[in-house]
Amino acid sequence: MAFARRDGELHAEQVPLSAIAREVGTPCYVYSRAALTARFRAWRDAPAAQPKLICYAVKANSNLAVLDLLARLGAGFDIVSGGELQRVLAAGGAASRVVFSGVGKTPQEMAEALAAGIRCFNVESAAELEVLEEVAAERRRPAPVALRVNPDVDPATHPYIATGLRAHKFGIELEGAFDLYRRAAASPHLRVVGLACHIGSQITDLAPFLAALDRLLDLHDRLVAAGIPLRHLDLGGGLGVRYRDETPPEPGDYVRAVSQRVGARPVELLFEPGRSVVAGAGVFLTRVLYLKRTAERNFAIVDGAMNDLLRPALYDAWMAVEAVSDAPREADRYDVVGPVCESGDFLARDRLLALAPGDLLAVRDAGAYGFSMSSNYNSRGRAAEVLVDGDRYHLVRRRETFADLVRGETRLPE
Ligand code: LLP
Repeated sequence: MAFARRDGELHAEQVPLSAIAREVGTPCYVYSRAALTARFRAWRDAPAAQPKLICYAVKANSNLAVLDLLARLGAGFDIVSGGELQRVLAAGGAASRVVFSGVGKTPQEMAEALAAGIRCFNVESAAELEVLEEVAAERRRPAPVALRVNPDVDPATHPYIATGLRAHKFGIELEGAFDLYRRAAASPHLRVVGLACHIGSQITDLAPFLAALDRLLDLHDRLVAAGIPLRHLDLGGGLGVRYRDETPPEPGDYVRAVSQRVGARPVELLFEPGRSVVAGAGVFLTRVLYLKRTAERNFAIVDGAMNDLLRPALYDAWMAVEAVSDAPREADRYDVVGPVCESGDFLARDRLLALAPGDLLAVRDAGAYGFSMSSNYNSRGRAAEVLVDGDRYHLVRRRETFADLVRGETRLPE
């Protein structure tokens, strides 16, 4: 266990979290190298009959040290912007292992990714395919493409993070995909290499993934019969994690089930996991500023807020919160809230905690969509990030200062 209680205190590997908070300050994110490594290996080393490539979804946690570590472990990367491509390259990742997802790629981003030599563009509309073809023609460099189809399956997750239903903006409708493949295959500027989907996030059951796969395989087989072979099938990301009492499948179970269904088809399997690689490998540390009792509720006002960790406010997500150090106090029920001026600014509600001002709290499973969704709202500098490695730790992003906040801004001329 990368995060475990020893001697009455929560540790990250060998390091007490209180020591990090003392030296780096709060709020801050703490990641475990051992946990990141173990979670990535669970994907990478999952046996499959086909070759496979794990393209970590950069949006879940895009800190350069995290990307560096994953690149060293052999990861590919799923990106959704030019900024993410530059992060991957800056962290030592190989462009040849990058797939580019997203419904709104700009011609500029396409040109940069093409020049870098990425593995594949996951194209999400006929209009995007046309623009990509123009960009590739201009640069005289054929673009490798997969169509991201919308398999119209219900992933049974939060509506904001479900993506594979017909009503969503994502992917190309299955019915139209075949004809679009024909067009792509006929273009001298496009190289058809794969077929992709992504049906949503925090999915805790294999059934929706396998329903989507069946639809992909059906289209794959029709394409092959029409003389359009595919080198890879990209199943997207979405495998859930345990925040509270969920029981998601292990990556190995998922990979095995996919591999079996794909059978003898000569394709490589691509997966784009984000959350399941990094969520459990991080905690968010925040300190109690004040305790406030009202007739209705008790509030623990902490120094971390919705700008630092948005998931509870945005999705009403439940994330475990615990006191970092044991204390002989009476427990009470608290809403854990931040200093931001919105009633939606909470990290947790109605939790039994034994607290005093100055206490340190850890929000668990905060490695995914934590820092990466943070903002400067209320002119709060973004939190520091720390990566623990055994009995040492590295500051992998320093806390933002006022100078960082106003960089790029100017006052009016005289
Ligand atoms: N591939 C594509 C095309 C995606 O859109 C996503 C996530 C992934 C892969 C990675 O999915 P994962 O394995 O992490 O589920 N902010 C939300 C999650 C948004 C997910 C967006 N797309 C949250 O905090 O729950």
